[in-house]
Amino acid sequence: MVITHSVKNQSRDGYQEAGEEGKLSQECKELLLSLPKEKGWRTSHLYKYQGFWCQSREIESTISFQRHFQARDTDVVLATVPKSGTTWLKALAFAIASRERFPIFSNNHPLLKFNPHDLVPFFEYKIYANDQLPDLSNLPQPRLFGTHIPFASLPSSIKKSSCRLVYICRNPFDTFISSWHFINKIKPPSQAPMPLEEAFEMYCKGVIGFGPFWEHMLGYWKESRDRPQKVLFLKYEDMKKDITFQLKKLAEFLGFPFSVEEERGGVIEKIAKLCSFENMKDLEVNKSGTSIKNFENKNLFRKGEVGDWINYLSPRQVEQLTKVMEEKLGASGLSFEVFSN
Ligand code: A3P
Repeated sequence: MVITHSVKNQSRDGYQEAGEEGKLSQECKELLLSLPKEKGWRTSHLYKYQGFWCQSREIESTISFQRHFQARDTDVVLATVPKSGTTWLKALAFAIASRERFPIFSNNHPLLKFNPHDLVPFFEYKIYANDQLPDLSNLPQPRLFGTHIPFASLPSSIKKSSCRLVYICRNPFDTFISSWHFINKIKPPSQAPMPLEEAFEMYCKGVIGFGPFWEHMLGYWKESRDRPQKVLFLKYEDMKKDITFQLKKLAEFLGFPFSVEEERGGVIEKIAKLCSFENMKDLEVNKSGTSIKNFENKNLFRKGEVGDWINYLSPRQVEQLTKVMEEKLGASGLSFEVFSN
């Protein structure tokens, strides 16, 4: 029924990175030798490829994605920095765009049985992972995909076609804390947890998967300002504050606006509820299943709040990250709410 069945869902995670690098193509191994590298958060190294930090296997699948993906005008690509609301956005976009096929009030809705990452697959972790070149031609329209790859590195067919991009970003304080928790949860027991201080220094230097975070955000931010019909730029905090308003905006952008009858019939509220943190985290598939790279779905749902960073960061760290944000984002017009209200 769903995309999982059309795209081979294999995973080779849980690997030791050295062994895994041995499995890379010769081309990729040679490329790695030429790239700047730093100690990784979870794997031994992160490499700087086309200006962003990522793991060796992500480089291989990104290259394949760049070479092979042919966008259609009807495609929708959901782009995010990790831990900024990817799972939520995938659920909402899927619910909106597929509501004719999957009525929202159905007790059989795919979101009740599948994790959003299985319904909206990542290019780099699923579609083009593990040397796969799947046939994407039969996926239902609109085809929905996810990616963490920065705008500059997306395949040209995405940029040139009329396909749409939705980007969600989240205030860097919460994104950092969410990333730090997540990495420590998915580390194998044989690896020591990463101290918060060490992770924080790396984050502020930009050394984190798909970072620097400011460059990732600014790439999509600038594009959304230059081509608002191409890129919709959302913020996690705005979605928490007024989901109804943001859902209407998202549905219109995707080309599936809510009708007056739907609004009156409570469709928007139903989508918001179906995709809410509280509902999703208690679903059996999200308590016990696995999706991206065989990571346990339960680790994708932690607190789902704005402002949890306050329980972790020292005043010095707050000052440091504030300064980084001012320096890197200050002139762009992009700013964040960092406290819950
Ligand atoms: P916290 O760790 O702060 O709780 P991503 O989906 O990009 O990996 O982001 C994960 C973050 O989004 C986690 O934040 C997670 O709890 C939160 N999240 C997951 N599902 C959500 C939902 N349906 N609504 C709001 N937040 C959600």
